[in-house]
Amino acid sequence: MTTAKLTLDGGNYEFPTFSGTENELAIDCRKLRGETTAITYDPGYGNTGSCKSAITFIDGEKGILRYRGYPIEDLVGRVRFSAVAYLLIHGELPDTAQLAGWRNDLTKNSLIHESMLKFFDHFPVTAHPMNILASMISSMSSFYPYDSEQEEHINLNIIRLIGQVKTLAAFSYKKSVGQPFMYPRSEYTYAANFLHMMFAEPTETYSVPKVLEDALDALLILHADHEQNCSTSTVRMVGSSQANLYACLSAGVNALWGPLHGGANQEVLEMLQRIQADGGDYKKYVAKAKDKDDPFRLMGFGHRVYKNFDPRAIVLRQKAEQVLNELGINDPLLDIAKNLEEIALKDSYFVERNLYPNVDFYSGIIYRAMGIPTEMFTVLFAIGRMPGWIAHWLEMRSDPDNRIHRPRQIYIGQPERHLP
Ligand code: CMC
Repeated sequence: MTTAKLTLDGGNYEFPTFSGTENELAIDCRKLRGETTAITYDPGYGNTGSCKSAITFIDGEKGILRYRGYPIEDLVGRVRFSAVAYLLIHGELPDTAQLAGWRNDLTKNSLIHESMLKFFDHFPVTAHPMNILASMISSMSSFYPYDSEQEEHINLNIIRLIGQVKTLAAFSYKKSVGQPFMYPRSEYTYAANFLHMMFAEPTETYSVPKVLEDALDALLILHADHEQNCSTSTVRMVGSSQANLYACLSAGVNALWGPLHGGANQEVLEMLQRIQADGGDYKKYVAKAKDKDDPFRLMGFGHRVYKNFDPRAIVLRQKAEQVLNELGINDPLLDIAKNLEEIALKDSYFVERNLYPNVDFYSGIIYRAMGIPTEMFTVLFAIGRMPGWIAHWLEMRSDPDNRIHRPRQIYIGQPERHLP
């Protein structure tokens, strides 16, 4: 075993190192403060490994993303989102019988408690659906028994969460447009059920277009996990205090909502619309993004981990073209997006900082083509991320190294002083 040597204030210290499956090297500094009295300073945790995890592997330099060892490019189009959810949570893809049982459980548990329907009446019509979703998930712990020690309760609550999140999301949309709720149907896939609940009306026959079902399925798979991002770390952080699963996931939804995280997909579309309304002058917006005196950022660009390209964006760029072609839509926003991408990829500001389009850059174009309103974009991200959050919560609970999360700080305020 190699060790990391540290010299500090005349003292010499050694810390063990270890590496993961893909040879990522880590210095185990758990004894750092005890032995040296010093702590690490790492705002944003860019150099901090908060846990060991067997769920998702990312190589940001090579643009690799794998769930339980499977590259995302292998999964999209080959298996459905429900199978990927099973993979993330249980560690292996389900066999035929397991998948049938899992899908049956998810459908059976996709109806929300009828008393919760009344909650929708009391949100203002202007409420953001992410806010409604976070509140509803938090409320679920009042309706369903929670016993963190009993495996069957945990399993049922996991199924309820994955089954019901899409129902809650679709109902919040129906409420906002003043239409009756449409209940989920057992014959549909997960993605088709969501589209049915969003777009069907009791007076009309609605069959879910295959192109939309497949595109949504791909989008959900691509959003299903992304290791220790802000919302997943939030789920683990809240879970480390042994708060219940609903509380942890409600916190995750709120963390995801921020414009630097999942909220960026809504921001991207609004930015493209702004550029379009401004005569399509995308070069002006690239210049604004580079201007240090202007707070504007090119939304959908850049990533903490990907320093080459975001593999999800590559799949989504192709999907956006395909969906628009199949639907016969000519969206000028796609042209603006492609122009922005082209100019930014050649510009030294973006090249030097390794700023590439991320997952949020093209997803909004597809959602828009599907008829999904902009405010629902981040909700769709949350639906996709649900199995990832749950897998991390489960992994955290069974990790012998897990302790309540409690970072330290360097105090820079007033020294001790007293009232005169
Ligand atoms: N437009 C213009 N400049 C940027 C951008 C951008 N989108 N992103 C980063 N930079 C610059 C930044 O100003 C800084 O420049 P300098 O070194 O001269 O000060 C440099 O690039 C590094 O940026 P950073 O903010 O230190 O990087 P970070 O790793 O802390 O932040 C990020 C990552 C994703 C928050 C950031 O790139 C960003 O704000 N992007 C726009 C929002 C966005 O698209 N978010 C979705 C992320 S992907 C989906 C998800 O995980 O939720």
